[in-house]
Amino acid sequence: MESGRNVAVFGAYGHTGRFVVAELRERGYVPLLLGRDQDKLRALAGLELAARQASADDPASLDRALTGAAAVINCAGPFATTGAPLIEAALRAGIPYVDVAAEIEANADTFAHFAERARAAGTAVVPAMAFYGGLGDLLVTTAMDDWTAADEVHVAYGLSSWHPTAGTLASGTVSGQRRGGRRVRYTGGRLEYHDDALPTLEWSFPAPLGPQKVIGEFTMADVVTVPSHLDVPEVRTYMTAKAAADLSAPDASAPAAVDERGRSAQTFVIDVLVRSGGTERRLAATGQDIYAISAPLAVEAVDRILTGRTRTTGVASAGAIFDAADFLRALSPHLSLHVPTGTRD
Ligand SMILES: NC(=O)c1ccc[n+]([C@@H]2O[C@H](COP(=O)([O-])OP(=O)(O)OC[C@H]3O[C@@H](n4cnc5c(N)ncnc54)[C@H](OP(=O)(O)O)[C@@H]3O)[C@@H](O)[C@H]2O)c1
Repeated sequence: MESGRNVAVFGAYGHTGRFVVAELRERGYVPLLLGRDQDKLRALAGLELAARQASADDPASLDRALTGAAAVINCAGPFATTGAPLIEAALRAGIPYVDVAAEIEANADTFAHFAERARAAGTAVVPAMAFYGGLGDLLVTTAMDDWTAADEVHVAYGLSSWHPTAGTLASGTVSGQRRGGRRVRYTGGRLEYHDDALPTLEWSFPAPLGPQKVIGEFTMADVVTVPSHLDVPEVRTYMTAKAAADLSAPDASAPAAVDERGRSAQTFVIDVLVRSGGTERRLAATGQDIYAISAPLAVEAVDRILTGRTRTTGVASAGAIFDAADFLRALSPHLSLHVPTGTRD
């Protein structure tokens, strides 16, 4: 197999990493399994796949692990710890880097710390190339269509439930610590830290979900990805109240597989509304399992980068580097798109 098909996955044996490994194999790529725990790597690799132990705090181990890889997908969170070392290693190796980080501050760091060097190196670095951050950005960019600026962007998450993985909970804890326990929102063209209570509102999702109680200012990674390339001073994200309660429940349980792909029963709707002057544009996507859907998102991104279907280099969000509408069409086996009638000018 030519080395151009070798794609390294850091955090390969994690819940999301396993979906990414399976997706790479399905698409004819050869996953190189990377992670810090040799035993977990061996158990996943079996006899068929190559596995290499590497630690985020050991650059030489990362360099060895990336030898022969055409690209790397980082699935090991908290990304506050793993992001920068893996990007440094990808830059040294001269290969594209894609991650699935949902941590707002870690994603903002990637733009702030690596934009110039990645651009100078001509290397693609795509943070948040997953359900949170990446998919919302693709939907917003597609809904914006010929607009490059808007007054407001709203991204409403209609999750039927949310059984979080250990990685999600650890990443939430790290982000919370970085914020000193404060909350964050994107307003006036910047991240703003505050202590206000989060409002409960009603959001009208497309049928069959319909109106649902949501938590407003439930701020997700879209507040980094969307304004990274679109001129929008207000980006607000919302979460169904039930899913928000699941996430913070003291006895929150991990996702349980219900089908042969390992997906849970969780369903999602992401409903995007962009507003400019008096005009609104909307687009929604529905699918199953927010962790599972992150795999085709990340692997499609790598495939597009390796086949030259990109619009820029350097650090870029999904909506900036890819043809967003075309990318979403490519995900049709995993996602259904809904354009509500009467919402276009
Ligand atoms: N943006 C999105 O929509 C989205 C979607 C899916 C996942 N994510 C994020 O992806 C991350 C992983 O989630 P998951 O569901 O796969 O969780 P998980 O099943 O708990 O797996 C976490 C993985 O990260 C590895 N890891 C953690 N800290 C590490 C470190 N310092 N060095 C090396 N490896 C480390 C773990 O390895 P060990 O077992 O050795 O600790 C494990 O492989 C989380 O941050 C989550 O928020 C985001």
